[in-house]
Amino acid sequence: MQSQNVLPLKTWSHGKVILAGEHAVVYGEPAIVSSISLGIEVELQRSKVKRAEHPFLATIRSTFEKQYSIIIPNLHIQIRSTLPEQSGLGSSAALAHAIFQAYGKLYSINITDKEMGDLLMQSEQFMHGRPSGIDAAAVTHTGLFVFKKTVDGPVIQRLPSTYTKHIPLCFLVYSGKPKETTGEMVQIVKELLIKQPTRSHIIHKIGTLVKEITKELSIGRFPYSHFRENQRLLEELGVVGTKAKKMVREIESVGGFAKITGAGGISEGSGMMVCFHNDIEKFEHALKKRLWSYTKLRVGNIEKEAQSKHDIVSIKQEES
Ligand code: PMV
Repeated sequence: MQSQNVLPLKTWSHGKVILAGEHAVVYGEPAIVSSISLGIEVELQRSKVKRAEHPFLATIRSTFEKQYSIIIPNLHIQIRSTLPEQSGLGSSAALAHAIFQAYGKLYSINITDKEMGDLLMQSEQFMHGRPSGIDAAAVTHTGLFVFKKTVDGPVIQRLPSTYTKHIPLCFLVYSGKPKETTGEMVQIVKELLIKQPTRSHIIHKIGTLVKEITKELSIGRFPYSHFRENQRLLEELGVVGTKAKKMVREIESVGGFAKITGAGGISEGSGMMVCFHNDIEKFEHALKKRLWSYTKLRVGNIEKEAQSKHDIVSIKQEES
């Protein structure tokens, strides 16, 4: 080990929100994704006692050990998070990224972008089976971008900040923790498409919506209704539970637009939903009245903020 004198040490990694295109992205369609100012802080501390290691943390450690041919001794990992787990906000990739960074600092290893991408793909595969790579890309990029999985690897197209100016304040409304994992949800869609191949039109329609949203943003327009349409297509794919569907309809009944973000969930909650409304006060009033938990953030324009928060102790939610 390089030096335990540097301990304790802290790192921070941001989460992400998929504005449109989840699930279809697994089949090579584009998705629009943004880094967010919520994230995970990790603190590596010395540890004298040997504790049971969570399987995900063990995978992160052994992946790093294998990559750099080192043995990491017994350490305590303190995790502080403003990202709810299993909500579609990329918490597993953010956790893995923060720990890989911390190990890198500890051993004075400069992890290249390519190496970080490979490390993250391995930890994401452990967590999610066969991910598209969108979470791994989102945690290593800031701002708003289009992600596309191709046979030659992921293609990431950064969208200029002029695109983001017209994105209204985004509300993340929580529909509850999904019972199913991301890997299980991806598998459900895969089985549906095998059993009913004609349903693959849903995948293409989602891809078309993403392209249209990107185009609209480029000319300074925000196509609210596309988010409603993306939600309907995700419902048709069977990744949205009854509770989230009901919440979406209620949001629509007060003039808002809502869609789940991330893998979704069926039997219980479907994780976080991205919501927009052109009357912020009215929408907040409606959410409060229903006692729904929510947070507000600006998507796309947080590059500086995310970087400056890299090493901070507490993570504040972004103000509107
Ligand atoms: O891990 P989540 O819940 O943010 O979902 C990832 C998005 C999916 O398209 C459902 C899966 C993937 O690997 O792209």
